[in-house]
Amino acid sequence: MFKALIVGAGGMGRAWGDNLKKNPETEIVGWVDIRPEAARNAALERELNDIFISDDLGKAIMETKPDFVVDVTVPEAHHDVTLTALNAGIPVLGEKPMAASMEQAKEMVAAAERSGKLYMVSQSRRYDARLHAYRKLIDQAIGEIGILNSDFYIGAHFGGFRDEMPSPLVLDMAIHTFDAARYLCQRKPLAVYCEEFNPTWSWYKGDSSATAIFEMEGGLRYTYRGSWCAEGMMTSWECEWRAVGPKGTAIWDGENLIKAEQVVETGGFHSKTQEVEILPDSMTPGGISGSLLDFLNALKTGATPMGECHDNIQSLAMVFGAIESSHSKQRVKIAL
Ligand SMILES: NC(=O)c1ccc[n+]([C@@H]2O[C@H](COP(=O)([O-])OP(=O)(O)OC[C@H]3O[C@@H](n4cnc5c(N)ncnc54)[C@H](O)[C@@H]3O)[C@@H](O)[C@H]2O)c1
Repeated sequence: MFKALIVGAGGMGRAWGDNLKKNPETEIVGWVDIRPEAARNAALERELNDIFISDDLGKAIMETKPDFVVDVTVPEAHHDVTLTALNAGIPVLGEKPMAASMEQAKEMVAAAERSGKLYMVSQSRRYDARLHAYRKLIDQAIGEIGILNSDFYIGAHFGGFRDEMPSPLVLDMAIHTFDAARYLCQRKPLAVYCEEFNPTWSWYKGDSSATAIFEMEGGLRYTYRGSWCAEGMMTSWECEWRAVGPKGTAIWDGENLIKAEQVVETGGFHSKTQEVEILPDSMTPGGISGSLLDFLNALKTGATPMGECHDNIQSLAMVFGAIESSHSKQRVKIAL
């Protein structure tokens, strides 16, 4: 049994409480929040009557001696929570985005190296069997891709902090899409040109829409188009995707349509193609259940999980590179 200490008892912290409670290999031993009453209520709602509640992470680590910390605080707090846990020799499974700045993220990766303990970011949309099937189809049917596009058009009326923050789309949502793009093409990002903008009818204060062109290793261009104020004809939250390689094209509508057209004969004006389809593996656990299993497997076997910090920081670098480019109106190199 792995002893888990949760930090953060907001909406997502509660979801993590449920996730850890239903996993037969984990036991919640404590819950920390700067609002301890929120942690207490979240614990009581889950019939965790005797666990340690505190507003002090250092004290909670000393008292509960957890096997790992789950950081579900706001992005601005991820740096301090992660460093406190890693410096005490405790592995961390932290929510996305890794940090509120690249400087903080680099310090967090350095802390993981110093401690020799695992720091993984739970990038929950990576744990989607359809995304995995799409990558498999790309690899099997169309070869090394040189073009990757994604479209995200959702009219989302959240209310609250997203309506007020700068860069709501790129900071809060596109991290998932950029991370999926890296997973699909298996290349590092090298540079980006991005324009963020806010259409006249937008109900957001910050730029709710963006277009970005990323140069990835090997010359691949990944283009992102997105808006959070697009009413009607919405895409899936996973985006609509198109990947083009030497042997053909593969698409994913972000739902259940995952198919490719593969070249079978050349010579005419258009090459002759055949359709190839793939079915997702229905047994693959999704979302934060998937990321918890990945993390536990890493603790048990020493395997590298998908959101390991050295890997995940590259998705964060795409986000901050895009925002820097948008502000400077220049192409920005993504250097790590
Ligand atoms: N993977 C996903 O799909 C997904 C979905 C929603 C949220 N998230 C992420 O989860 C995290 C939390 O989001 P949320 O919606 O629960 O936010 P929230 O604002 O509802 O909750 C955050 C909690 O953290 C507490 N907190 C803040 N600073 C703290 C600190 N220094 N120490 C201890 N507690 C602290 C707050 O008091 C609050 O209870 C964010 O990073 C967010 O991006 C991920």
